Amino acid sequence: RSRGGRLRVTLRAAQGPTRVAGREATMLSYNGGLPGPTLYLQPGDRLQVRLTNDLDAPTNLHVHGLHVSPLDNGDNVFIAVQPGESFDYDYQLPADHPPGVYWYHPHHHGMVADQVFGGLYGAIVVGDPEPVPATRERVLVISDLSLDGSGQVAAPSAMARMAGREGQLVLVNGQSRPVLTARPGERERWRIVNACSSRYVRLRLDGQQLQLLGVDSGRYPEPRDVNEIVLATGNRADLLVTAAEGSSVLESLPYDRGGMGGMMGGMMGGGSTSSGGGAIALATLDVAGAAVAALPPVPAQPAPRDLRGLTVAGRRELIFAMGMGMGMGGGGMQFTIDGKVFDPERVDQAVQVGTVEEWTLTNASSMDHPVHLHVWPMQVIAEGGQPLDEVRWRDVVNVPPGGQVTVRIAFDRYPGRTVYHCHVLDHEDDGMMGVLTAT
Ligand code: C2O
Ligand code: CU
Ligand code: CU
Repeated sequence: RSRGGRLRVTLRAAQGPTRVAGREATMLSYNGGLPGPTLYLQPGDRLQVRLTNDLDAPTNLHVHGLHVSPLDNGDNVFIAVQPGESFDYDYQLPADHPPGVYWYHPHHHGMVADQVFGGLYGAIVVGDPEPVPATRERVLVISDLSLDGSGQVAAPSAMARMAGREGQLVLVNGQSRPVLTARPGERERWRIVNACSSRYVRLRLDGQQLQLLGVDSGRYPEPRDVNEIVLATGNRADLLVTAAEGSSVLESLPYDRGGMGGMMGGMMGGGSTSSGGGAIALATLDVAGAAVAALPPVPAQPAPRDLRGLTVAGRRELIFAMGMGMGMGGGGMQFTIDGKVFDPERVDQAVQVGTVEEWTLTNASSMDHPVHLHVWPMQVIAEGGQPLDEVRWRDVVNVPPGGQVTVRIAFDRYPGRTVYHCHVLDHEDDGMMGVLTAT
């Protein structure tokens, strides 16, 4: 479709029987599918979504990573759509919206992890100004899930919630270890979404040539050869796979997100959040048959915008921490930003539209926190005090235990109110979220 077009879709969130990983399960889903339908857009398009809530709990919709207004019927996470109700979302993408892979999921505070882990997620693709020649495009939504004996989504323990729940099954498009096929020489474009609630994936596809076009809305000027891609929860990768004869396994290697540290070490039985013991096989790529003719080269991308060298209007430090709460309700682990848990009535950061700010994200805890800001992408300019050489745009930025990451943000459009938070969704539900207003 052309620019300035319109896409209208209905998403019905409901609970029902689904076949997943070879067994009958009761899952949440959009329109009965796992994942929900992929939404294909172009910069400048208008997206209209009617969300119908057939769940027995409130929900809403967030378009993760899209640079759209947070006002009114836009990407407004303060809306609650009650059971039995519908809501009409209306998003206008700007004509200069960055191409890439995005996604949608619920964002009703306190229920985000349950609803995403339960099956509510789907991909959004924003097309390229200049198409990348490829023989096939695949959207691969990675999610994880634990089912109990009766096929219900298993409720996490209190400990798993603190660490951030990780499912025993890791699925690709709702399937356990699907087999993908290609012919030698084919150039496939894989749009990968890490839709897991907490799990980080460290992807490898040994035996195949991998070139990364970009991560989140951050597009590299030239495709970049890679062997491995680490995606925190919420991150996406736009990847080219040039198929070579043979069978290769897409696997996720262990990633250690840290633990509860000395604070909770004994109680947690170590409190490890390491993703399993060994590599997890996610899918198989079988490449066989007659080779295809070589494809034209990938066109170079326009140089990305670089906020370094611009005037900074404000500098802030945000401190991500966890500790035992001493609230009136008694103790319990609290996940805080600047010592506070989320309060939708409070404004934590007030910024001015038209300015560039520099934020230092500090992790004062013993676990990774993947920090996510809605509406505006972040340019990572330093990690651990070390300035970066490259231009790196992300909407989820991992901050390791004890670490510090500095980002710049251009608030060049969109007044309104939105949030930033840890994308370990259990941490977000437990309060690690703040409110930002732009005026
Ligand atoms: Cu993907 Cu505020 O989240
Ligand atoms: Cu988001
Ligand atoms: Cu966190």
